[in-house]
Parts: sequence; C-alpha cells; structure tokens
Amino acid sequence: MAHPRLLALCGSARKDSFNRLALAVAITGAQRAGAEVTFVEPREFVMPLYDGDLEASDGLPEAAIRLQQLFAEHDGVIVATPEYNGFFTPLLKNTLDWVSRPLPGGTGQPGTIHLRGKPAGLVTASPGALGGIRAMQHARLYLSNLGLVVVPEQAAVSAANKVLGVDGSVSDDRTLGMLESVGAAVSKLAAALGTRAG
Ligand SMILES: Cc1cc2nc3c(=O)[nH]c(=O)nc-3n(C[C@H](O)[C@H](O)[C@H](O)COP(=O)(O)O)c2cc1C
Repeated sequence: MAHPRLLALCGSARKDSFNRLALAVAITGAQRAGAEVTFVEPREFVMPLYDGDLEASDGLPEAAIRLQQLFAEHDGVIVATPEYNGFFTPLLKNTLDWVSRPLPGGTGQPGTIHLRGKPAGLVTASPGALGGIRAMQHARLYLSNLGLVVVPEQAAVSAANKVLGVDGSVSDDRTLGMLESVGAAVSKLAAALGTRAG
C-alpha cells in the first residue's frame, strides 16, 4: 500500500490543547513517512455519554456512525490523550466505546471490525513532570482491547506548556523525534499490513 490513510484522534476538545499540539507533530512524522492523515475534530464528533437505553431506543449517535465509517476508510490511527488522574480521558473512551458498538444495518457486526488488526500510535502531553505516562499504559491496553495493534513507539511530553509551541514548534529535539517517530511507525506498519477494510 503506497499511501496509507491514518486517522488522528485527540482525547481533548480544548482549543489550546497541548495534546492537539503533540498530535500535530506526530501527524507530520506520519506524513513524512508517506501517510495521508485525517484529523478528527472532537467538536465535530460530539456524542452523549454512552447509555444502553439510549442505544436501544435511538441507535448510535450519527457522529459515532460517521466515525465508524471513517475507521473503515482508514488503515490506522494516531491517538493523543491528556492524563486525568492517571487515566486517559472520558472523551476518548466514550467516543471509542460508541464506535465499538454494532454497526447500523442489523448485521450484528461490531464496530471494532473496522479497527481490528490496524496499527495505532499513542502520544500524551501534560504540563506536569510525567507527561501523561500513566495514562499511556491504560490507553495502550484499551486500544489493544479494541483490536488495534499499538506500536511500541510512544511519546509522553512533560512540561508541555514549555516544550510545545502554538506555532507547531518543539523546543526539545529529542521530544520532536519521539513524537514524529510515533506517526512514522504507524504509517510504516499500516503500509506493510495494508489492512483497510472499506
Ligand atoms: C480532571 C483532571 C485531572 C488531571 N490529572 C492529571 C494527571 O493525573 N496527570 C497530569 O500530568 N496532569 C493532569 N491534569 C492536567 C492536564 O494534564 C492538563 O489540564 C492538560 O493541559 C490537559 O490536556 P490538554 O492540554 O490536551 O487539554 C489533570 C487535569 C484535569 C482537568
């Protein structure tokens, strides 16, 4: 597969999100490695908190259906998430929990069919000293449970308020290299696997 297509998902909807800045650097790494990347703007994919009664009465939110379709059309995903009390965010989990639910149309196929076997990369960023590394471990497990293949490369950006510039700059070369390597690794694995389903 010459040009893998990747999604980029941010677990923070905040407009000045440090994770969004970190994700942008990982996206550049993926693009340099040959990928086309689609950024999923969180505010365009707003979903209610998962509720089984709501799903039974109304089906999936239309944003979840759109995201399931986007996963079908892409070969992998780069995920950035803040750390909230040692965990990845409820926004990220709620979004992907909805995506994992059965596809519309009554076939009974789980939404994870469009994730299974596709590569994923993880970055975290925090103004704190640990950069979100604790959330990373939980996010890695969660993404694996969804069937994604999480690449070993990862980047946790500490002191993100000092290291990441709003102009896309990264003041520390090692951090820059680690963020780009996550995107590059997802791109290369996606190209090697050629897994796109739809
Ligand atoms: C509820 C809550 C819990 C937080 N817990 C942590 C934490 O455990 N570790 C950490 O490094 N930062 C923690 N923070 C600070 C976030 O890292 C910080 O708000 C960060 O800017 C959020 O990411 P964003 O800039 O991408 O929105 C927490 C923030 C909130 C709102």
